[in-house]
Amino acid sequence: MTIAVLYGGKTGEHEVSLLSATSVVRNIDTKKHKILLIGITKTGRWYLQSNNEIKRVKNDEKAILKIQTMSDMVVSVVPGGGTDGGLIVLGSEFGAKNLPVDVIFPVLHGTYGEDGCPQGLLEMAEIPYVGGGVMASAVSMDKEKTKQVWEQVGLPVVPFVCVRRYQKENDAEMEQIYKQVERDFTYPVFVKPCCAGSSVGASKAVDKAALEKAIAEAFLWDEKILIEPCIQAREIECSVTGNDELVAYTPGEIKPSHEFYDYEAKYTDPNGAALLIPADLDDSRLREVRQLAVKAYQALDLSGLSRVDFFIDKTNDRLYLNEVNTIPGFTSISMFSKMCEASGLHYSQLIEKLLELAITRFKKRKQLKTSR
Ligand SMILES: Nc1ncnc2c1ncn2[C@@H]1O[C@H](COP(=O)(O)OP(=O)(O)O)[C@@H](O)[C@H]1O
Ligand SMILES: [Mg+2]
Repeated sequence: MTIAVLYGGKTGEHEVSLLSATSVVRNIDTKKHKILLIGITKTGRWYLQSNNEIKRVKNDEKAILKIQTMSDMVVSVVPGGGTDGGLIVLGSEFGAKNLPVDVIFPVLHGTYGEDGCPQGLLEMAEIPYVGGGVMASAVSMDKEKTKQVWEQVGLPVVPFVCVRRYQKENDAEMEQIYKQVERDFTYPVFVKPCCAGSSVGASKAVDKAALEKAIAEAFLWDEKILIEPCIQAREIECSVTGNDELVAYTPGEIKPSHEFYDYEAKYTDPNGAALLIPADLDDSRLREVRQLAVKAYQALDLSGLSRVDFFIDKTNDRLYLNEVNTIPGFTSISMFSKMCEASGLHYSQLIEKLLELAITRFKKRKQLKTSR
Protein backbone atom coordinates (compact mmCIF):
# COMPACT_ATOMS: atom_id res chain seq x y z
CA MET A 1 0.00 0.00 0.00
CA THR A 2 1.00 3.62 -0.40
CA ILE A 3 0.77 5.56 2.85
CA ALA A 4 1.02 9.33 2.97
CA VAL A 5 2.33 10.57 6.30
CA LEU A 6 1.25 14.15 7.09
CA TYR A 7 3.40 15.88 9.67
CA GLY A 8 4.35 19.26 11.13
CA GLY A 9 1.37 21.58 10.84
CA LYS A 10 0.16 25.04 11.72
CA THR A 11 0.00 24.38 15.45
CA GLY A 12 1.86 24.97 18.68
CA GLU A 13 2.49 21.22 18.64
CA HIS A 14 4.41 21.28 15.33
CA GLU A 15 7.64 20.03 16.93
CA VAL A 16 5.85 17.23 18.78
CA SER A 17 4.46 16.13 15.42
CA LEU A 18 7.96 15.98 13.89
CA LEU A 19 8.95 13.55 16.66
CA SER A 20 5.78 11.44 16.35
CA ALA A 21 6.04 11.25 12.55
CA THR A 22 9.74 10.34 12.65
CA SER A 23 8.86 7.37 14.82
CA VAL A 24 5.98 6.36 12.52
CA VAL A 25 8.17 6.54 9.40
CA ARG A 26 10.92 4.47 11.06
CA ASN A 27 8.45 1.76 11.93
CA ILE A 28 6.52 1.39 8.69
CA ASP A 29 7.82 -1.64 6.85
CA THR A 30 9.05 -0.17 3.54
CA LYS A 31 9.34 -3.64 2.02
CA LYS A 32 5.58 -3.92 2.36
CA HIS A 33 4.53 -0.30 1.90
CA LYS A 34 5.52 2.82 0.07
CA ILE A 35 5.69 6.03 2.11
CA LEU A 36 4.91 9.48 0.77
CA LEU A 37 6.11 12.14 3.16
CA ILE A 38 4.12 15.34 3.22
CA GLY A 39 5.48 18.07 5.48
CA ILE A 40 3.13 20.89 6.56
CA THR A 41 4.87 24.15 7.43
CA LYS A 42 4.01 26.34 10.40
CA THR A 43 2.13 28.56 7.96
CA GLY A 44 0.07 25.61 6.78
CA ARG A 45 1.51 24.85 3.32
CA TRP A 46 1.94 21.23 2.25
CA TYR A 47 5.17 20.02 0.58
CA LEU A 48 6.09 16.61 -0.75
CA GLN A 49 9.46 15.52 0.68
CA SER A 50 12.14 13.55 -1.11
CA ASN A 51 12.59 9.83 -0.45
CA ASN A 52 16.02 10.63 0.94
CA GLU A 53 14.34 12.12 3.97
CA ILE A 54 12.74 8.72 4.69
CA LYS A 55 16.13 7.02 4.34
CA ARG A 56 17.81 9.66 6.48
CA VAL A 57 15.57 9.09 9.50
CA LYS A 58 15.54 5.32 9.01
CA ASN A 59 19.34 5.17 8.96
CA ASP A 60 20.09 7.60 11.76
CA GLU A 61 18.27 7.00 15.02
CA LYS A 62 18.99 10.55 16.21
CA ALA A 63 17.62 12.22 13.07
CA ILE A 64 14.28 14.03 13.21
CA LEU A 65 12.13 14.73 10.13
CA LYS A 66 12.54 18.17 8.60
CA ILE A 67 10.37 20.01 6.10
CA GLN A 68 11.85 21.20 2.80
CA THR A 69 9.81 23.87 1.04
CA MET A 70 10.65 23.39 -2.65
CA SER A 71 8.34 25.37 -4.89
CA ASP A 72 7.93 22.47 -7.34
CA MET A 73 6.84 20.12 -4.55
CA VAL A 74 3.72 21.94 -3.33
CA VAL A 75 0.96 19.44 -2.53
CA SER A 76 -2.69 20.24 -3.02
CA VAL A 77 -5.92 18.43 -2.26
CA VAL A 78 -8.55 17.86 -4.96
CA PRO A 79 -12.17 17.50 -3.79
CA GLY A 80 -13.66 14.27 -5.10
CA GLY A 81 -10.26 13.12 -6.39
CA GLY A 82 -10.22 9.87 -4.42
CA THR A 83 -7.18 7.69 -3.83
CA ASP A 84 -5.89 8.25 -7.38
CA GLY A 85 -6.37 11.98 -7.79
CA GLY A 86 -7.20 13.40 -4.36
CA LEU A 87 -3.62 14.51 -3.79
CA ILE A 88 -1.59 16.29 -6.43
CA VAL A 89 1.85 17.82 -6.53
CA LEU A 90 2.06 21.16 -8.30
CA GLY A 91 5.42 21.11 -10.02
CA SER A 92 6.12 24.55 -11.50
CA GLU A 93 7.51 23.25 -14.83
CA PHE A 94 5.40 20.17 -15.41
CA GLY A 95 2.03 21.28 -14.08
CA ALA A 96 0.11 19.03 -11.70
CA LYS A 97 0.87 15.38 -11.15
CA ASN A 98 -1.34 12.90 -9.27
CA LEU A 99 0.01 11.39 -6.08
CA PRO A 100 -1.94 8.14 -5.72
CA VAL A 101 -2.29 6.97 -2.09
CA ASP A 102 -4.21 4.21 -0.35
CA VAL A 103 -4.42 5.85 3.05
CA ILE A 104 -3.27 8.98 4.84
CA PHE A 105 -1.84 9.01 8.35
CA PRO A 106 -2.22 12.55 9.74
CA VAL A 107 0.48 12.46 12.41
CA LEU A 108 -0.57 15.97 13.45
CA HIS A 109 -1.41 17.29 16.89
CA GLY A 110 -3.63 20.09 18.12
CA THR A 111 -5.21 22.83 16.00
CA TYR A 112 -5.42 22.06 12.26
CA GLY A 113 -4.33 18.54 13.17
CA GLU A 114 -6.79 16.73 15.41
CA ASP A 115 -9.59 19.31 15.41
CA GLY A 116 -11.58 18.08 12.42
CA CYS A 117 -10.06 20.51 9.89
CA PRO A 118 -7.69 18.18 8.01
CA GLN A 119 -10.24 15.39 8.53
CA GLY A 120 -12.81 17.48 6.65
CA LEU A 121 -10.34 18.18 3.88
CA LEU A 122 -9.62 14.47 3.46
CA GLU A 123 -13.34 13.61 3.56
CA MET A 124 -13.87 16.00 0.65
CA ALA A 125 -10.92 14.48 -1.21
CA GLU A 126 -12.40 10.98 -0.56
CA ILE A 127 -9.22 9.44 0.78
CA PRO A 128 -9.13 7.12 3.83
CA TYR A 129 -7.33 8.58 6.84
CA VAL A 130 -6.27 7.32 10.25
CA GLY A 131 -8.23 8.42 13.30
CA GLY A 132 -11.50 10.07 14.23
CA GLY A 133 -13.91 11.66 11.76
CA VAL A 134 -14.79 15.34 11.48
CA MET A 135 -17.41 15.63 14.24
CA ALA A 136 -15.63 13.34 16.71
CA SER A 137 -12.34 15.16 16.20
CA ALA A 138 -13.87 18.62 16.48
CA VAL A 139 -15.88 17.84 19.62
CA SER A 140 -12.93 16.07 21.24
CA MET A 141 -10.73 19.11 20.68
CA ASP A 142 -13.21 21.26 22.60
CA LYS A 143 -13.07 20.53 26.33
CA GLU A 144 -16.46 22.14 27.04
CA LYS A 145 -18.27 20.18 24.33
CA THR A 146 -16.50 16.95 25.31
CA LYS A 147 -17.59 17.33 28.92
CA GLN A 148 -21.17 18.16 27.89
CA VAL A 149 -21.35 14.97 25.82
CA TRP A 150 -19.93 12.86 28.63
CA GLU A 151 -22.22 14.43 31.24
CA GLN A 152 -25.19 13.80 29.00
CA VAL A 153 -24.54 10.04 29.02
CA GLY A 154 -23.88 10.03 32.76
CA LEU A 155 -20.08 9.78 32.74
CA PRO A 156 -18.19 11.47 35.61
CA VAL A 157 -16.52 14.80 34.78
CA VAL A 158 -15.04 17.51 37.02
CA PRO A 159 -17.63 20.32 37.37
CA PHE A 160 -16.87 23.38 35.26
CA VAL A 161 -17.84 26.91 34.40
CA CYS A 162 -17.24 27.95 30.80
CA VAL A 163 -16.55 31.62 30.05
CA ARG A 164 -16.75 33.09 26.54
CA ARG A 165 -14.87 36.19 25.42
CA TYR A 166 -17.99 38.37 25.13
CA GLN A 167 -18.64 37.62 28.80
CA LYS A 168 -15.09 38.51 29.79
CA GLU A 169 -15.57 41.86 28.12
CA ASN A 170 -18.64 42.64 30.23
CA ASP A 171 -17.90 43.56 33.88
CA ALA A 172 -21.40 42.75 35.14
CA GLU A 173 -21.28 39.27 33.52
CA MET A 174 -17.86 38.64 35.03
CA GLU A 175 -19.04 39.58 38.53
CA GLN A 176 -21.80 36.96 38.13
CA ILE A 177 -19.24 34.40 37.06
CA TYR A 178 -16.94 35.16 40.00
CA LYS A 179 -19.97 34.82 42.29
CA GLN A 180 -20.90 31.49 40.73
CA VAL A 181 -17.34 30.16 40.99
CA GLU A 182 -17.03 31.24 44.63
CA ARG A 183 -20.46 29.81 45.47
CA ASP A 184 -19.98 26.43 43.75
CA PHE A 185 -16.23 25.82 44.13
CA THR A 186 -13.61 26.61 46.76
CA TYR A 187 -10.14 27.95 45.97
CA PRO A 188 -7.81 26.86 44.56
CA VAL A 189 -9.50 26.60 41.16
CA PHE A 190 -7.97 25.57 37.85
CA VAL A 191 -8.28 27.66 34.67
CA LYS A 192 -7.55 26.48 31.12
CA PRO A 193 -8.40 27.29 27.49
CA CYS A 194 -11.15 25.07 26.00
CA CYS A 195 -9.45 24.18 22.74
CA ALA A 196 -5.72 24.20 23.37
CA GLY A 197 -3.38 21.40 24.37
CA SER A 198 0.04 20.75 25.90
CA SER A 199 -1.15 22.61 29.04
CA VAL A 200 -0.64 26.01 27.39
CA GLY A 201 -2.53 28.81 29.12
CA ALA A 202 -3.43 26.56 32.07
CA SER A 203 -2.90 27.61 35.68
CA LYS A 204 -4.06 27.33 39.23
CA ALA A 205 -5.60 30.26 41.12
CA VAL A 206 -5.64 30.54 44.91
CA ASP A 207 -7.83 33.64 45.24
CA LYS A 208 -9.92 36.08 43.20
CA ALA A 209 -6.93 38.22 42.16
CA ALA A 210 -5.08 35.14 40.92
CA LEU A 211 -8.27 33.94 39.18
CA GLU A 212 -8.51 37.21 37.23
CA LYS A 213 -4.91 36.77 36.12
CA ALA A 214 -5.41 33.11 35.23
CA ILE A 215 -8.49 33.97 33.15
CA ALA A 216 -6.57 36.66 31.26
CA GLU A 217 -3.76 34.18 30.55
CA ALA A 218 -6.14 31.47 29.32
CA PHE A 219 -7.89 33.96 27.00
CA LEU A 220 -4.58 34.56 25.21
CA TRP A 221 -5.03 31.06 23.77
CA ASP A 222 -8.72 30.68 23.06
CA GLU A 223 -12.10 32.35 22.65
CA LYS A 224 -13.53 30.40 25.60
CA ILE A 225 -12.07 28.98 28.77
CA LEU A 226 -12.96 26.60 31.60
CA ILE A 227 -12.81 27.19 35.34
CA GLU A 228 -12.86 24.01 37.44
CA PRO A 229 -12.24 23.08 41.06
CA CYS A 230 -8.57 22.22 41.37
CA ILE A 231 -8.34 18.47 41.84
CA GLN A 232 -5.43 17.00 43.77
CA ALA A 233 -5.14 14.59 40.95
CA ARG A 234 -3.46 11.35 40.15
CA GLU A 235 -3.26 11.43 36.35
CA ILE A 236 -4.35 8.19 34.70
CA GLU A 237 -4.41 7.55 30.94
CA CYS A 238 -5.83 4.79 28.78
CA SER A 239 -5.22 4.05 25.08
CA VAL A 240 -8.21 2.92 23.03
CA THR A 241 -8.25 1.69 19.43
CA GLY A 242 -11.03 0.53 17.13
CA ASN A 243 -14.05 1.57 15.11
CA ASP A 244 -16.86 -0.70 16.29
CA GLU A 245 -15.01 -3.34 18.28
CA LEU A 246 -12.99 -1.34 20.76
CA VAL A 247 -9.90 -2.32 22.70
CA ALA A 248 -8.88 -0.40 25.84
CA TYR A 249 -5.28 -1.18 26.80
CA THR A 250 -3.48 -1.34 30.16
CA PRO A 251 -3.90 2.09 31.83
CA GLY A 252 -0.84 4.08 32.78
CA GLU A 253 -0.12 6.84 35.25
CA ILE A 254 1.77 10.12 34.93
CA LYS A 255 3.55 11.36 38.02
CA PRO A 256 4.54 14.96 37.33
CA SER A 257 7.26 16.43 39.55
CA HIS A 258 5.82 19.92 38.92
CA GLU A 259 2.80 21.57 40.55
CA PHE A 260 0.72 20.04 37.73
CA TYR A 261 1.44 18.35 34.38
CA ASP A 262 2.49 21.62 32.73
CA TYR A 263 4.23 22.29 29.41
CA GLU A 264 7.72 21.99 30.89
CA ALA A 265 6.89 18.71 32.63
CA LYS A 266 5.54 17.38 29.33
CA TYR A 267 8.32 18.44 26.97
CA THR A 268 11.30 20.34 28.30
CA ASP A 269 12.19 19.01 31.74
CA PRO A 270 13.67 15.50 31.36
CA ASN A 271 12.69 14.80 34.99
CA GLY A 272 9.32 16.52 34.62
CA ALA A 273 7.23 13.39 34.95
CA ALA A 274 7.54 9.68 35.63
CA LEU A 275 5.47 7.35 33.45
CA LEU A 276 4.15 4.25 35.14
CA ILE A 277 2.56 1.35 33.22
CA PRO A 278 0.44 -0.21 34.52
CA ALA A 279 -0.88 2.55 36.77
CA ASP A 280 -0.49 1.73 40.45
CA LEU A 281 -4.14 0.75 40.93
CA ASP A 282 -5.83 -2.46 42.01
CA ASP A 283 -7.31 -4.75 39.37
CA SER A 284 -10.89 -3.62 39.79
CA ARG A 285 -9.88 0.05 39.42
CA LEU A 286 -7.84 -0.78 36.30
CA ARG A 287 -10.88 -2.55 34.88
CA GLU A 288 -13.10 0.40 35.75
CA VAL A 289 -10.72 2.81 33.95
CA ARG A 290 -10.74 0.64 30.82
CA GLN A 291 -14.52 0.33 30.81
CA LEU A 292 -14.97 4.05 31.30
CA ALA A 293 -12.44 4.78 28.53
CA VAL A 294 -14.52 2.69 26.12
CA LYS A 295 -17.75 4.46 27.13
CA ALA A 296 -16.09 7.87 26.78
CA TYR A 297 -14.81 6.93 23.29
CA GLN A 298 -18.20 5.62 22.20
CA ALA A 299 -20.02 8.69 23.51
CA LEU A 300 -17.94 10.84 21.16
CA ASP A 301 -18.33 8.48 18.15
CA LEU A 302 -14.55 8.19 17.92
CA SER A 303 -12.76 5.87 15.53
CA GLY A 304 -9.21 4.68 14.95
CA LEU A 305 -7.50 5.67 18.16
CA SER A 306 -7.66 7.98 21.16
CA ARG A 307 -6.01 8.43 24.50
CA VAL A 308 -8.59 8.97 27.22
CA ASP A 309 -7.23 10.88 30.23
CA PHE A 310 -8.56 10.63 33.79
CA PHE A 311 -8.05 12.13 37.21
CA ILE A 312 -8.30 10.27 40.48
CA ASP A 313 -8.92 12.72 43.32
CA LYS A 314 -6.34 11.85 46.00
CA THR A 315 -8.58 13.22 48.75
CA ASN A 316 -11.55 10.90 48.13
CA ASP A 317 -10.43 8.42 45.45
CA ARG A 318 -13.10 9.56 42.97
CA LEU A 319 -12.44 8.84 39.31
CA TYR A 320 -13.17 11.55 36.70
CA LEU A 321 -12.78 11.74 32.95
CA ASN A 322 -10.61 14.75 32.12
CA GLU A 323 -10.10 14.93 28.36
CA VAL A 324 -9.48 12.91 25.21
CA ASN A 325 -6.67 13.22 22.65
CA THR A 326 -7.61 11.88 19.24
CA ILE A 327 -4.05 12.04 17.88
CA PRO A 328 -2.00 11.71 21.05
CA GLY A 329 1.79 11.96 21.18
CA PHE A 330 2.73 9.05 18.95
CA THR A 331 6.44 8.24 19.19
CA SER A 332 7.37 4.66 20.03
CA ILE A 333 8.06 5.83 23.61
CA SER A 334 4.92 7.96 24.03
CA MET A 335 2.37 6.95 26.66
CA PHE A 336 -0.12 5.95 23.96
CA SER A 337 2.15 3.40 22.29
CA LYS A 338 3.68 2.19 25.54
CA MET A 339 0.24 1.41 26.96
CA CYS A 340 -0.60 -0.58 23.80
CA GLU A 341 2.78 -2.32 24.05
CA ALA A 342 2.07 -3.26 27.69
CA SER A 343 -0.97 -5.18 26.42
CA GLY A 344 1.12 -6.94 23.77
CA LEU A 345 0.48 -4.73 20.74
CA HIS A 346 3.86 -3.67 19.39
CA TYR A 347 4.38 -0.27 17.82
CA SER A 348 4.67 -1.42 14.21
CA GLN A 349 1.61 -3.68 14.64
CA LEU A 350 -0.23 -0.72 16.12
CA ILE A 351 0.53 1.36 13.02
CA GLU A 352 -0.68 -1.48 10.74
CA LYS A 353 -3.85 -1.80 12.80
CA LEU A 354 -4.62 1.92 12.54
CA LEU A 355 -4.10 1.88 8.76
CA GLU A 356 -6.46 -1.09 8.43
CA LEU A 357 -9.07 0.58 10.65
CA ALA A 358 -8.87 3.69 8.45
CA ILE A 359 -9.50 1.71 5.28
CA THR A 360 -12.31 -0.35 6.83
CA ARG A 361 -14.10 2.79 8.02
CA PHE A 362 -13.69 4.44 4.62
CA LYS A 363 -15.08 1.42 2.74
CA LYS A 364 -18.11 1.20 5.04
CA ARG A 365 -18.92 4.87 4.62
CA LYS A 366 -18.42 4.67 0.88
CA GLN A 367 -21.41 2.30 0.70
CA LEU A 368 -23.74 4.96 2.07
CA LYS A 369 -26.12 6.60 -0.38
CA THR A 370 -25.25 10.18 -1.27
CA SER A 371 -28.08 10.71 -3.72
CA ARG A 372 -31.56 9.31 -4.38
N1 LIG B 1 -9.36 20.66 37.31
C1 LIG B 1 -8.05 20.46 37.41
N2 LIG B 1 -7.46 20.34 38.63
C2 LIG B 1 -6.14 20.15 38.76
N3 LIG B 1 -5.28 20.05 37.72
C3 LIG B 1 -5.80 20.15 36.48
C4 LIG B 1 -7.20 20.36 36.25
N4 LIG B 1 -7.40 20.41 34.91
C5 LIG B 1 -6.18 20.26 34.34
N5 LIG B 1 -5.22 20.11 35.26
C6 LIG B 1 -3.77 19.93 35.05
O1 LIG B 1 -3.41 20.55 33.82
C7 LIG B 1 -2.95 19.58 32.87
C8 LIG B 1 -3.42 19.96 31.49
O2 LIG B 1 -4.82 20.01 31.45
P1 LIG B 1 -5.66 19.17 30.38
O3 LIG B 1 -7.10 19.35 30.72
O4 LIG B 1 -5.16 17.79 30.34
O5 LIG B 1 -5.37 19.95 29.02
P2 LIG B 1 -4.26 19.74 27.86
O6 LIG B 1 -3.43 18.53 28.20
O7 LIG B 1 -5.08 19.54 26.63
O8 LIG B 1 -3.51 21.02 27.85
C9 LIG B 1 -3.49 18.26 33.40
O9 LIG B 1 -2.71 17.17 32.97
C10 LIG B 1 -3.41 18.47 34.90
O10 LIG B 1 -2.07 18.32 35.36
MG1 LIG C 1 -3.97 16.70 28.98
